[in-house]
Amino acid sequence: MSFERFTAELDALWRAASQAFSQVSDPAALEAARVEFLGARSGRLKALQKMLADIPPPQKPDAGRRFNQIKKELEEALRQAQQRLGSTAAARSRRPPLDPTLPGTRVGLGKLHPISHTIEELKEIMGRLGFTVADGPEVEDEWHNFEALNIPPDHPARDPLDNFYLSVAGQLCQPPLLLRSQTSTVQIRVMERMPPPVRIIALGRVYRPDEVDATHYPMFHQMEGLMVDRHVTMADLKSTLRLFAAAYLGQDAPIRFRPSFFPFTEPSVEVDFQWAGGWIEFGGAGMVDPAVLAAVGYDPEQVTGFAFGLGVERLCMRRHQIPDIRELYRNDVRFLRQF
Ligand code: PHE
Repeated sequence: MSFERFTAELDALWRAASQAFSQVSDPAALEAARVEFLGARSGRLKALQKMLADIPPPQKPDAGRRFNQIKKELEEALRQAQQRLGSTAAARSRRPPLDPTLPGTRVGLGKLHPISHTIEELKEIMGRLGFTVADGPEVEDEWHNFEALNIPPDHPARDPLDNFYLSVAGQLCQPPLLLRSQTSTVQIRVMERMPPPVRIIALGRVYRPDEVDATHYPMFHQMEGLMVDRHVTMADLKSTLRLFAAAYLGQDAPIRFRPSFFPFTEPSVEVDFQWAGGWIEFGGAGMVDPAVLAAVGYDPEQVTGFAFGLGVERLCMRRHQIPDIRELYRNDVRFLRQF
């Protein structure tokens, strides 16, 4: 066979095969085309390969190169056609037949983080007591985090070492901004926005540069409560917290008030819940200081109020017997999956 005839046949075969591969529309037709052109025993390309032996020796290397080139191209065209017709079809035919007696594949369901779950439950309980949910920013100014809460500039609570003040390029922001250290900021924001009566809770993150240990974390959550109206008394505060403790921790969860001090409440108490035979502090509370009511434009002669701030992590830990706050933020799914 002459070199010219060989290359002409090679080209014709290339045209026919690439057209067939690109036009077939189902796997069976593709397989038929594969056998016809690239079949290992009697495919048309194989037949041409045998002709190579008859090419005059000087032209043989060139003919061989062309042959190999065409072969490579057609194999690639076949591969693309297989891909186009869906590896699914190929995969399906390779998959073993369905065995309905095999156990199923478990679908992993996501869950709320225990803290998110706790927050939902706290909202629900306080909602039943008539408290609506309020919200405020986590980045605060000094007015809402301190001043309006009756915490003057020289008060130790404002110490930069006890707060996360924000800076830009190494410079403290002016006016100063900080990550809020308490949700009491939301009390101010709510009272600035609306006249009394007020009955709200605010749930959210607060930040303090505390050393991390089993009960401290530099970010945690608080539930703030605020009720302002005519004739609100300490008895209302205590019964609200008692009802809350019974609903969240169970009827047998007594609470205790200890005298304390907060700049924004007078009198102030620390709120303890029973835990493991002892008493643990869950937060602070008190009657809203008249100076705070005045700072937001309320008339302290007309209305009084109570406020409280409880640690959400502690409530969650007490409820689920979690001994270490760090477990809540390690994000170990083996732990989180239990709730
Ligand atoms: N804001 C106080 C704290 O973070 C708690 C508190 C809230 C105390 C409301 C009294 C009234 O410690």
